[in-house]
Amino acid sequence: MSQDDKKKRAAEAALEYIEAGMIVGVGTGSTVNHFIDVLATMKGKIEGGVSSSEASTERMKKHGIRVFDLNETGGLSVYVDGADESTKHLHLIKGGGGALTREKIVAGASEKFVCIADDSKLVPYLGKFPLPIEVIPMARSFVARELAKFGGRPVWRDNFVTDNGNVILDVHDMEIMDPVAMENELNKIAGIVTVGIFANRPADVLILGTDTGIQTVE
Ligand code: 5RP
Repeated sequence: MSQDDKKKRAAEAALEYIEAGMIVGVGTGSTVNHFIDVLATMKGKIEGGVSSSEASTERMKKHGIRVFDLNETGGLSVYVDGADESTKHLHLIKGGGGALTREKIVAGASEKFVCIADDSKLVPYLGKFPLPIEVIPMARSFVARELAKFGGRPVWRDNFVTDNGNVILDVHDMEIMDPVAMENELNKIAGIVTVGIFANRPADVLILGTDTGIQTVE
C-alpha cells in the first residue's frame, strides 16, 4: 500500500472524533487534505472549521465547509492535524508544510489533538526530520547563529514565505532527546516565532495508517 493510501486511512479514521454541531480545528498538509475531503461528507452536520493555513482554508471553502476565525469561536473540542515525526509519547515535529505557527495556536486552543499520519512517521526519537523554525525575517542570521550553538545546522528554506510573512529555518542534525526542554530553550531565542517541536502541547491521540489498517497510540 502506498504512503498516500496510508495517510488516507488515518484521515478516514479521524472522523470517529467528529460530532454533529462541532467547529473542527483543521491542520495542514497532504494527510489533512484527505481529512478535509472526508470531513466534507459531514458538512451538513458540523458547524464548520477553524483553519491553520491559507491552503486548508481554500480547500475547505471549495468543499463548502464554513471557515471560522479562531477569535470568534472560543475554544475548540477537536483539532486534527498531521506530523512530520511522532514519538510514542506523542511529542511531534511539525512544520514541513510551513504552517507550524497557526497549527500550534489552533492545537493550543483545542481540548483534543488528534494526529493523523502514515506509519513511517512514528520514530524512536525526534530530530531526523530537519526541525522547522519560523523566524522574523530580520532575525534570520542571528537566529541561525544561535541555533548552531545547539549543534544544529540551520538551512534557510528556499523561496518560502509563511502565511504570516516570515521565513523558515530547517535545522538539521538536532539531537532532541528531551523535546519539552528543547522546545522551551529554543523559545527563548529572540526572533523565533515558533519552534516546530510540539511537546508542551503534544498530540492526545496518534492515528497511524498501516498496510493492514489503523494503529492508534494514546
Ligand atoms: C505542515 C505540517 C504537516 O502536518 C506535516 O508537514 C505533515 O505533512 P503531510 O501530511 O503532508 O505528511 O506540519 O506544517
